[in-house]
Amino acid sequence: MIYFDNSATTQPDSEVIRTFSAASASFFANPSSLHGLGIEADRLLERSRMQVAELAGMRDGTVVFTSGGTEANNQALFGLARANAGHGKKILMSSVEHPSVLNTADRLRCEGFDVVTVAAGPDGVLDLSDLEEKLTADTIVVSVMHVNNETGAVQPLEQAGRLIRQASPRAVFHSDIVQSFGKLPIPAGPDAISLSAHKFHGLKGSGALILKKNIHILPYLFGGGQQGGLRSGTVPVAHAAALAKAMRLAHESMDRTPYREWRDELIRFFGNFEKIRVIGGTDTAPHILSVAVRGIRGEVAVNALQEHGIYVSTSSACSSRSRRESHVLQAMKLREDFRHGVIRLSFGRQNKLEEITRFKEVFAGFMETIERV
Ligand SMILES: Cc1ncc(COP(=O)(O)O)c(C=O)c1O
Repeated sequence: MIYFDNSATTQPDSEVIRTFSAASASFFANPSSLHGLGIEADRLLERSRMQVAELAGMRDGTVVFTSGGTEANNQALFGLARANAGHGKKILMSSVEHPSVLNTADRLRCEGFDVVTVAAGPDGVLDLSDLEEKLTADTIVVSVMHVNNETGAVQPLEQAGRLIRQASPRAVFHSDIVQSFGKLPIPAGPDAISLSAHKFHGLKGSGALILKKNIHILPYLFGGGQQGGLRSGTVPVAHAAALAKAMRLAHESMDRTPYREWRDELIRFFGNFEKIRVIGGTDTAPHILSVAVRGIRGEVAVNALQEHGIYVSTSSACSSRSRRESHVLQAMKLREDFRHGVIRLSFGRQNKLEEITRFKEVFAGFMETIERV
């Protein structure tokens, strides 16, 4: 099996599974319980919380453990918008955000917030002049992802952060860094970031929203008041410990991954085919490579590769089943005859150089077949 669909999800690292099993077995008590077992579970939870904050570059920040990236993004947008509604109603986000941001924003529109999208260029990168034009003193939240899940486009968060500080000093800057954590350093700029463990060899059902100290946010899940009232529900201590472990492993391996060489090698290879366009600019994230094949549907390539044990996606795992046209490719104004033939390769820590070589052989065979028909 050659698994190049790591942006959809990754295979959990065995060390992460070990941490999860050990914590589940020995620290099963409810961390809110007053007895000794509860106190021990709470200690592990707090240790994990500190590690997560530190690895996210917000040592004295607030960590909200969530069920994943979707919940972290929902919590960020609902929580920050409602907490700051007294200062304004305007929320800005890029047009290429993940649906967990865009669809949450639609709900906020129904609550009376003024949600405005900022354009992306043909390379999928945020248009900073459009952002600058749309930032106003009453902007309360800006949400821009770090790496796009469909194209690998890297957003200029540091520059965006500077523009936000100048034009909208009251705005909280949130970034969905689900696709970039452990692949690229976390840029300075955002006040709040969303993470999902299963994108970096952690476990599905676990993630976090991490906020700089003193950022005001309201809960959107209510109940027993756990996690300082920010996210009610018995805290899954083993998930928290496993998330901290997955973050540490991803952080430690970041400078040692060969993804950039593999991506560049594949870009050269795809350049041999007149029918193929590499999507996104030259400066995309190292672990994601999307290409469009003219005149075919992406599913055809996905199925043909699968017959050889190679697993890739069409543009993104969420849009690939729904058959809806990708909002990201639309925003990038990709030509119609290319738009349906997009495949995405995304690398993870288990991949090897030989797999790139094998992919090229199989894919060249596939291209020969489609040239013939
Ligand atoms: C950029 C981005 N944000 C958020 C999510 C949602 O994360 P989760 O699957 O943990 O809910 C994904 C998942 O594909 C993603 O790629």
